[in-house]
Amino acid sequence: LNDFFAKQMAGGAVADDSGPTVPVTILWGSQTGNAESCAKRMGKALNGGRFETEIFDLSAYDISKLSEEKNVLLITSTYGDGEPPDNAADFVENLLAEDAPRMEGVKFSVLALGDTEYPDFCETGKVIDRRFGELGGERIYERVDCDVDYDEPFDVWKAGIIDVLGAGSAAAELVEIPAADEPYGKKKPFPAPVLNNYNLNGAGAFKATHHIEFSLEGSGLEYEAGDALGVVPVNPESVVDELLAALPFNTGREVPLPGGGEAPLKEALMHHYDIRSLNKNLVSAWQERSGSPYLRSVVEADDKAVWDDFFWGRELIDLVVDYPADFRDGEEFVGVLKKLQPRLYSISSSPKAHPGEVHLTVAIVTYDSHGRSRGGVCSTFLADRCEGVQPGVYVHVNKAFRPPSDGTVPLIMVGPGTGIAPFRAFLEERQATGATGQNWLFFGNPYRATDFLYEEELATMQEKGTLNKLSLAFSRDQKEKLYVQHLMLQEGAELWKWLEEGAHFCVCGDASRMAKDVDAALHQVIQDHGGKSEEEAIEYVKQLKKDKRYARDVY
Ligand code: 2AM
Repeated sequence: LNDFFAKQMAGGAVADDSGPTVPVTILWGSQTGNAESCAKRMGKALNGGRFETEIFDLSAYDISKLSEEKNVLLITSTYGDGEPPDNAADFVENLLAEDAPRMEGVKFSVLALGDTEYPDFCETGKVIDRRFGELGGERIYERVDCDVDYDEPFDVWKAGIIDVLGAGSAAAELVEIPAADEPYGKKKPFPAPVLNNYNLNGAGAFKATHHIEFSLEGSGLEYEAGDALGVVPVNPESVVDELLAALPFNTGREVPLPGGGEAPLKEALMHHYDIRSLNKNLVSAWQERSGSPYLRSVVEADDKAVWDDFFWGRELIDLVVDYPADFRDGEEFVGVLKKLQPRLYSISSSPKAHPGEVHLTVAIVTYDSHGRSRGGVCSTFLADRCEGVQPGVYVHVNKAFRPPSDGTVPLIMVGPGTGIAPFRAFLEERQATGATGQNWLFFGNPYRATDFLYEEELATMQEKGTLNKLSLAFSRDQKEKLYVQHLMLQEGAELWKWLEEGAHFCVCGDASRMAKDVDAALHQVIQDHGGKSEEEAIEYVKQLKKDKRYARDVY
């Protein structure tokens, strides 16, 4: 029997279902639901064969069980600065501890989700993968790191796992044939008419923040307060024309598209390829074909600081213009480009307040660098180029970020800048459902005069008794910077009282600094006003997370 089992594990071809059952434990760490959905899909793919699968949210998994597992498939994302998702934080901490359970005899594989646009790509998956190995586990399939477009690498991992686990018949389920009348979704975005699009900032503001309303009429798309909207951007035609003029080959031909099929190069560059971000592969490919000594020095330095310095404020157009490269044709050229990715924005409306519509609150990113004015691909598209275009949109469900299901529960929301977006939705939702729980919003932005987003709406909500407390941190209206976390500390006694009354604490916005500072302020308030030690405050916050009372939508 042992032999038989070993053979299966080694990938021996066992095509029938008559063998012993193979226990597989699937663990997921997920912030926005992608890793969770991969875990469920993996579970489904293993279903029906000889596999006995169990799927666990990492926050609900007893780590001491690790030693007893036979096969562990771990799927986790990473967010912000290489941090684990909230539901995986404890697990990772315990896994890295000295007394972590040994894993001799445990077979494992890790699927890591991430985003190459952020530092420490797939860090959490890498850390867990390494640690499982250190603890004596046997890696049965190499870790796969996925960029935002994770479907393909996930399928590769899934097929690979099924193969090494000796799936036999289950492998047949891998073929997913999309239905002819596929509903609108990520694979088939809905072309949404733009109903309204205006700048929320006042004249003279440093930055623009657009309020954009789309119609979802006839799309069949549904969403809840807390979800995000995927938007498919279109690159600026002026930049594409400039690229075409500078490329050294016949640009009139058709080229392959990332998802299959072909299109003229111009269309491909406007709608299908990322012509903005640079990455190592792209610059390396460019160096080979341009022979530029400077690019060679960047590539050969193999030093993150040198790379980052080169990437900053540069785009494809800079390579094309400044380092003429010898590409044979359009096909070879697009071969070094990445797929143009949709962008996710936290939805700022409640469907109950605006049936058939979805609203976004988008910071428009613009800056000057290396002699050009530039902008975020999708934000400038939404601000300047989406009129009459009907941008492709789809709903990205974010189950972990919701207003409390119990309307009587108090709610504290911290959302400076565009972090206010989901909280406008939460407030609208609570107003529409007649929720009686108290609502407290912390908002911040540079100047009150120009940057008080949704000022009138918030005033109306205050009058109606939906918004019970509004704490405002206009950071540059006084000499010393004033941030939302400073107000949390000032209002610490009240905040502690709300927490003790069962309030949920939700944060949205910048992950790298704001969310960390707010988290520190939360711990401080619990120490100062709850009379707790540092360790006790850490435990208190952990418990908040476990109870799903501390939710974050940070980026
Ligand atoms: P600043 O730009 O004046 O420094 C939305 O971007 C608001 O968040 C701005 O008022 C910004 O202030 C502020 N902000 C910047 N860094 C922050 C941090 N670490 N914590 C909280 N708010 C921050």
